Amino acid sequence: MMRRVFTASILAIALIATAAGIASAQKRKPDPVNGLRLSTMWCSACHVVNPVQVTALADAPSFAGIAAMYASSPQRLSNYLTAPHATMPTQGLGRQQITDIIAYIVSLRP
Ligand code: HEC
Repeated sequence: MMRRVFTASILAIALIATAAGIASAQKRKPDPVNGLRLSTMWCSACHVVNPVQVTALADAPSFAGIAAMYASSPQRLSNYLTAPHATMPTQGLGRQQITDIIAYIVSLRP
């Protein structure tokens, strides 16, 4: 009986710790600087991600262009980046990374 109570409390503590971890991960504010870093790593092979970059794939819009296109709806941008996409290997990105990239793209708005 004692052992069962002990096991239950360990489980409860583990659950609370996990929940707290998730909550604090979600609480982090979108970080456009990290977004720029991620964009340079993940997106610059095809997109012009910043004003100084000169080469990219011809049919991929620049991030400044994307910022203008999605100016009224960053949520649509989020939907776009979370859905699997034939021409773009973005599936490896986590929620927080996508949020940071969007914060960066939104910061490019004219
Ligand atoms: C392998 C090349 C490639 C990479 C890498 C890539 N993209 Fe793209 N992306 C494209 C192409 C090509 C298009 C335009 C054609 C299309 O919509 O499929 C596009 C379109 C987009 C659009 C949609 C614009 C619209 O028309 O609505 C967004 C947003 C976007 N990319 C964001 C990103 C982000 C953010 C990353 C990095 C995490 C990224 N892309 C990485 C090739 C790429």
